[in-house]
Amino acid sequence: MTEEQIREKVQSALSPKRFRHVEGVVQTADRLARLHGTDPDHARLAAWLHDYCREWPKEKLLQTAKQHSVNEMFFEVTELLHGHIAAAIAPEEFGIADEDVLNAVRFHTSGRPNMSLLEKVVFLADAIEPGRDYPAIAEIRKLAEEDLHMALALSFDNTIEYLIRRQQPIFPLTVVARNEIWRILKDGRVV
Ligand SMILES: [Fe+2]
Ligand SMILES: [Fe+2]
Repeated sequence: MTEEQIREKVQSALSPKRFRHVEGVVQTADRLARLHGTDPDHARLAAWLHDYCREWPKEKLLQTAKQHSVNEMFFEVTELLHGHIAAAIAPEEFGIADEDVLNAVRFHTSGRPNMSLLEKVVFLADAIEPGRDYPAIAEIRKLAEEDLHMALALSFDNTIEYLIRRQQPIFPLTVVARNEIWRILKDGRVV
């Protein structure tokens, strides 16, 4: 499939508002990938796919997740399933099989420890695309250009604070990922 065909297929699956979000993520992921030295083509592909299943009803998400043997730990927070399912169906529906691209799609909502550079870029692009607006965004946007790990650390903290304020569940891997990024920053290590 060409990128244009992928774009059209994604557009047909989403509301205009969500599709504008996806276009923003594609544009931001492309820029961040170039800035931080990972493949912009892979970043754009993951960005096009990341919310492909975002508007599926809960029942369809749960059923498809079971069919594709998505790990049961992701069922506890339904908001996480759309990325895992998009990654599971991408080889068949889009002809995309690159594991790094698929992992960037899988973990774009929760993050996880040991994220690849591509996973970090897509995670952040989703958080800071031009259509997003929340109090910490200006700082995270600025840092995303200069210090990817610091931007990621603040983005994780921001997400976790947001979930706590709304009494929403926090996925354990997100906490592990957040602790890992802060450890990297404080130890001065880069993984
Ligand atoms: Fe998403
Ligand atoms: Fe998204």
